[in-house]
Amino acid sequence: MTVLSVRNLQVAFGAVAPLSGVSFDVAKGETLGIVGESGSGKSLTAMAVMGLLPLAGGRITAGSITFDGQELTTLTEKAYRRLRGGRIGLITQNPMTSLDPLQCIGPQVDAVAVLHLGMTAREARARTVEILGTLRIPDPATICDRYPHQMSGGMKQRIVIAMALAADPDVLVADEPTTALDVTVQAQIIRLLDDLVKSRDLALILITHDMSVVAQTCDRVVVMYAGRAVEQGPVGDIFDAPQHPYTQALIGCIPRGLDDGARLTGIAGTVPTVLNYPPGCPFHPRCDRAEEVCASIVPELEPNATGAVACHLPGVAP
Ligand SMILES: Nc1ncnc2c1ncn2[C@@H]1O[C@H](COP(=O)(O)OP(=O)(O)OP(=O)(O)O)[C@@H](O)[C@H]1O
Ligand SMILES: [Mg+2]
Repeated sequence: MTVLSVRNLQVAFGAVAPLSGVSFDVAKGETLGIVGESGSGKSLTAMAVMGLLPLAGGRITAGSITFDGQELTTLTEKAYRRLRGGRIGLITQNPMTSLDPLQCIGPQVDAVAVLHLGMTAREARARTVEILGTLRIPDPATICDRYPHQMSGGMKQRIVIAMALAADPDVLVADEPTTALDVTVQAQIIRLLDDLVKSRDLALILITHDMSVVAQTCDRVVVMYAGRAVEQGPVGDIFDAPQHPYTQALIGCIPRGLDDGARLTGIAGTVPTVLNYPPGCPFHPRCDRAEEVCASIVPELEPNATGAVACHLPGVAP
């Protein structure tokens, strides 16, 4: 069952419009990946869903975001505050944006259940210890009395996940949750999130620039380029038969292990910035398939058999 829907989302900061068409749905018990190069608009999409754009000076100029049937784009900040960190949780790249360095772990996690679930301090602590245990944090009762600086990066990120879970959310938005961690810890955290989606029937939006993470954990994926969703669909179909040349290039960049030379090819050219988005299809200057139409007309996101693609000349690479 779809719990969060984004339709044709457009975002502006003054005259600058970094998001100009993002659409996706996410259901409970499902992980949706949002993938794209740096600057493609992944974090802005997360901020829009969390209602955080006004705080950054941005605003939604068109489109809709519905959560459990409720329109969020017209919600007041007061109403958003009940939702944010409650039924919709956010995990960011840097755990210290969510943790208070001057407060012990226990009270920080307890506060979430007190605020959002109306629990007493005692009830909340029992819940905190239980959640920390679920996240395979050793000796949870003792950890409650530690300060963030006494913990490793991976442990801090687990605490942030615990804070999000303490409110019993329906949707979790994870914006590059493992980028700051070393590779083995990254894999643990990703596996943890994957388990939580299933055991708690969560809808997880996993933002990453890593296609191999998408392949391992996501059910469906949205590929973003220059502020637009350019392709989306079930992960199996996207990897087996990507229709958009940009998706094909991203998949071509996945290192295939040492036997294969372990080369990260990279895509020629650079992502356009908001100040110089090209006319027509934003990818056309880097696309070897581009024809005249691509330089003048923006391709719409058109549904296909299992997903959607925004390309004048879609198709599996020859
Ligand atoms: N506060 C802001 N004011 C104006 N432009 C902004 C603002 N925040 C982001 N942008 C622009 O919006 C575009 C998308 O940014 P965003 O942070 O969403 O990218 P991203 O896909 O998350 O990239 P990364 O992988 O580097 O995190 C960028 O071109 C960025 O310069
Ligand atoms: Mg980002």
